[in-house]
Amino acid sequence: MPGDFTVLIMAAGKGTRMRSPVPKVLHPVCGKPMVEWVIDAAREAGAGAVVCITRPGDGVAEGLPESVTVAEQRAGEGTGAAILAAREGGPAEGPVLVLSGDHPLLSAELIGRLMDTHGRERAAATLLTTEELDPAGYGRIIRTADGSVERIVETKYTEGLSSEELATREINIGTYAFESSELWSALDEIGEERGEIYLTGVFGILREHGRRVISHLTTDVSSAMGVNTRADLMEVDRIAVRRILDHHAREGVTFLGPDSTRIEAGVTVGADTTVWPGVTLRGGTTIGAGCEIGPQTTITDSALGDGVKAVHSFLCEATVEAGASLGPFAYLRPGAQIGAGAKIGTFVEIKNSNIGSGAKVPHLSYMGDADVGENSNIGAGNITANYDGRRKHRTTIGDDVKSGVDTSFVAPVSVGDGAYTGAGSVIAEDVPDGALGISRSEQANVEGYAERKEKPPE
Ligand code: UD1
Ligand code: MG
Repeated sequence: MPGDFTVLIMAAGKGTRMRSPVPKVLHPVCGKPMVEWVIDAAREAGAGAVVCITRPGDGVAEGLPESVTVAEQRAGEGTGAAILAAREGGPAEGPVLVLSGDHPLLSAELIGRLMDTHGRERAAATLLTTEELDPAGYGRIIRTADGSVERIVETKYTEGLSSEELATREINIGTYAFESSELWSALDEIGEERGEIYLTGVFGILREHGRRVISHLTTDVSSAMGVNTRADLMEVDRIAVRRILDHHAREGVTFLGPDSTRIEAGVTVGADTTVWPGVTLRGGTTIGAGCEIGPQTTITDSALGDGVKAVHSFLCEATVEAGASLGPFAYLRPGAQIGAGAKIGTFVEIKNSNIGSGAKVPHLSYMGDADVGENSNIGAGNITANYDGRRKHRTTIGDDVKSGVDTSFVAPVSVGDGAYTGAGSVIAEDVPDGALGISRSEQANVEGYAERKEKPPE
């Protein structure tokens, strides 16, 4: 039943073991903040309101999507104190899902199954548990003789715990469904332990009041992976990358080197595209269908049309239309717009420039702040002198232009349609349509020079 449960995400833990000025839950996992994975999974599972619990001034609220409500944990320590902070804005009754902001791999499917179990069994509380992990340090599920959940025993500190409690393998993952009214009244009765209010204390209380507490056992270990250190982050990121590649592969993308390929969460890739080893696709990049990307190509926040080839290239905030070819060793900087079927070749850098459809910049050139028309051919080693030391100026090159090798365009300057430039020219004056612009000193040949030079002195 989509939209009929509220989600409370606990994200006010200290996260000091990350050793970072960035709050733990905002560290990116495959390009998306950790807590946003949790939010997205909840939404995909059909959540209504999403409330995220943060600490005043910890910077987490600023990093959240606008659709999320923030509740500040101003008082108390522990997961129980976190949930109490959401009481005022939270639902008085109806189902509520409690998640941890540092469990980014929890899947929407598993949330769905947990909510189904909870609804079907009409439970006061349903907790997600697993027997697949090393239980050390986790809350353990203690059951009664008839098999129902009796309480949770925290095992971070082991003194005073019985051997049966410590032998229990089933652990609390920290993901729960509650009937809200039951949650709030049980929380009212909880005391402090070691200076903290443990949310897990509510299960024993509910049980004592004769309420139904059940568990949903899962073998999905990744859903239980909490991030406390950068080592945990690295492991979670590795799994997230592979999930993303699997998703694209199922949608028709071929990966020839998946272990050296990284695609971030916000990237789209069209069907029948082939991704070679050493490729990184970042941010909001979109790749069309039938492209050949890589080997060794990094693309950030760029849009590529269908049938584009990009070999050993580096792109950032560039647009490349269908059928264009890039590299090897092309560098496209912000504002590079490459038209359909154009070719940007080897050791070519393009910045804030439009390269017309069918145009070619094949070798060793820099086009900065330039407009190159359709089907023009830029000779090897052409450079736009776009910066006069204070300001940037544009170079305009028309359609069907053929520039000679080693032409410098001293901007602002324009070259008309169908014009030519002579090899080695410094073009500082406009060239009319169809003209040849040439500017270089005349060649003089000094006859007999070598013989004179090489003659031994007398
Ligand atoms: C918790 C559970 C434990 C379970 C484990 C699973 C409790 C008491 N124990 O332990 O049974 O096996 O998760 O990973 O709940 N948080 C706040 N405010 C706080 C403290 C924590 O918002 O004052 C948030 C954290 O950011 C985190 C979540 O609550 O997202 C869990 O807190 P954490 O300290 O990691 O609890 P654990 O000791 O791991
Ligand atoms: Mg934890």
